[in-house]
Amino acid sequence: MIHPVLRTYDLHKNYGRLTAVDHLNLSVPAGSIFGILGPNGSGKTTTLGMLVDIIKPSSGYFEWFGQKPDGAIRKSIGAIVETPNFYPYLTARQNMKIICDIKGQAYAEIDKSLTLTELGARQNSRYKTFSLGMKQRLAIAAAMIGKPRVLILDEPTNGLDPKGIAEIRNIIRNIASEGITILLASHLLDEVQKVCTHVAILDHGKILSKGPVEDVLSDSPLVELAAPDMPQLKSLLEKENWVKKFQEDQGRFVATLKEGFKVEDVNRELVAKGIFLNHIMVRKKSLENYFLETLEANA
Ligand SMILES: Nc1ncnc2c1ncn2[C@@H]1O[C@H](COP(=O)(O)OP(=O)(O)O)[C@@H](O)[C@H]1O
Ligand SMILES: [Mg+2]
Repeated sequence: MIHPVLRTYDLHKNYGRLTAVDHLNLSVPAGSIFGILGPNGSGKTTTLGMLVDIIKPSSGYFEWFGQKPDGAIRKSIGAIVETPNFYPYLTARQNMKIICDIKGQAYAEIDKSLTLTELGARQNSRYKTFSLGMKQRLAIAAAMIGKPRVLILDEPTNGLDPKGIAEIRNIIRNIASEGITILLASHLLDEVQKVCTHVAILDHGKILSKGPVEDVLSDSPLVELAAPDMPQLKSLLEKENWVKKFQEDQGRFVATLKEGFKVEDVNRELVAKGIFLNHIMVRKKSLENYFLETLEANA
């Protein structure tokens, strides 16, 4: 059996009466760039904090590579969850040597890490002369020391200008192309859409939706359908060309329509085939709209 890189089982955290993370069930496939997308305060950092053992879960648990976390597994996970400390008067390279010493790794890894994060040319500059984007890239370079199989990033582009954001995005893609699974928390829809392969949308600590980015963040309308003869409806949905995909949800089918199809087309097609629905409803908001509204409400 191939295990997902990470699986959480009802992972839960409350601070007194406040629920920060609410029975989270996530499965992160190997090789994915997995985005945890949610507005501020939705529980992203708390989730990552639990995964890197900075925060103790109130209940639930998680497994890396199908195993309970132990020292060896922790070493294979690179993370930037808390702001890393570098020495301002030392150069990037000198700082990286210190990181290697702490992690017990050979200095031979430094070049590759600095190249991967496009800092090779600035390795002999002092940290204090770095832009915010370069500092963030050095943090990623440091996290890559020890050849992790997973890289965890919390809001990696916070505070960066568009150029800095694009650089981080490239670096994330470079790292993923080496087969490293990336778990990335962000409140920016655009960032997740551009770089992630999978996403879980978090709100008030709960997952609203999860799956491949093109499914979860698609603009296609969702239509709820039910008919007296559900098996008949099902076999039709399996064949119809206007159905992108569908799934069962609480005794109804929820179909994603292909581009260009509207709910009235669905109605007409089904009637023409002798299926009379007893329920048809467009799910009002696409997740994208929902998410934008949530963000605005929290802004
Ligand atoms: N140490 C803490 N004590 C009390 N409440 C906390 C603590 N850390 C986070 N919270 C609360 O938990 C919720 C989730 O926070 P957080 O995980 O930081 O969200 P995000 O990273 O998505 O912005 C928020 O309501 C936040 O105020
Ligand atoms: Mg956060």
